[in-house]
Amino acid sequence: MTNRETDEATGVETTGHEWDGIKELDNPMPRWWLWTFYACIVWALGYAIAYPSLPFVSGAPKGVLGYSSRANLHADIADANAEQADLLQKIETLPLAAIRNDANTFQFAVSGGRAAFAVNCSQCHGSGAQGSPGYPNLNDDVWLWGGSLDEIHTTLKHGIRFQQDDDTRFSLMPAFGTDGLLSRPQIIDTSHFVRKLGGLEHDTEAAERGAPLYEENCAVCHKSNGVGDRKQGAPSLTDAISHYGDGLNAIAAQISRPRHGVMPGWKDRLDPATLKQLAIYVHSLGGGE
Ligand code: HEC
Ligand code: HEC
Repeated sequence: MTNRETDEATGVETTGHEWDGIKELDNPMPRWWLWTFYACIVWALGYAIAYPSLPFVSGAPKGVLGYSSRANLHADIADANAEQADLLQKIETLPLAAIRNDANTFQFAVSGGRAAFAVNCSQCHGSGAQGSPGYPNLNDDVWLWGGSLDEIHTTLKHGIRFQQDDDTRFSLMPAFGTDGLLSRPQIIDTSHFVRKLGGLEHDTEAAERGAPLYEENCAVCHKSNGVGDRKQGAPSLTDAISHYGDGLNAIAAQISRPRHGVMPGWKDRLDPATLKQLAIYVHSLGGGE
């Protein structure tokens, strides 16, 4: 304060601050700035009265407008639910084929199914349902147990080799090796024959020796021509798709000691509408049988 003086060049009083000979002029705030500042204060007061703003120990005053982002969210969710309730109701009551044919409901079911798939199924079948050895790819139109809407729905409800459900899909390929039904050389011969069925490179003589063994032990499930049997979940051995690998060792390992893949049933864990949406979604992936 003591250093205040009047600047010669401008005639304005200085603040008394000085740095290396540079002095600060005590100019008044610009008008526009002051008015903006006052306007902000007025606006803030108005806001504090109208909206919840002042934080107290337990909550804030509600404000005269009674605004609450939480209540708005609840209202939005209720609106969305009401909109969806209509579609969910349809999904619950309509047969699968009818849902498939109603464009709007179908669309809704596919997105609902996709979301439910990401949560419940992707850890085994992969996020894109592409599968991995032992976990079938659901994008192709090759099915172990059936690829119609109703077959898929049944698989989902009751699972596969899922002990907790009496209606589960069930079959057990015998353990030809570990149970001593076939000797090691016989298993290798049969494996060559399986590769022959699949159109893969094989030892002709071994495959010839394997043919009668196959007919006797395997054809009941995989059929004489190797096309498989969906009633037993026995995969086709003729197509390019293999569940556990189509190398000679992989085939021999499966014959010796089958995996007996397990898929949990979902009827006690997911509600009926979700199960139907999942069936529609999975069906839509493969183009749908
Ligand atoms: C714990 C792992 C696991 C989970 C989780 C799982 N699956 Fe599976 N799923 C399997 C296995 C293993 C098989 C093959 C069983 C077999 O060898 O027959 C299978 C088979 C299937 C099949 C039959 C495919 C065919 O070719 O017939 C469908 C459809 C299917 N799963 C859909 C689903 C859906 C939808 C979900 C989620 C609700 C799901 N899975 C969750 C392991 C799983
Ligand atoms: C009772 C029915 C049954 C009989 C009999 C049977 N299988 Fe299987 N097989 C299955 C089923 C079901 C699977 C699916 C995977 C599993 O359950 O382990 C399978 C899977 C396979 C696979 C794997 C296919 C893939 O895609 O990876 C091969 C290979 C195979 N069987 C070969 C044979 C041969 C060879 C015999 C005879 C020595 C035989 N199976 C007898 C039911 C049977």
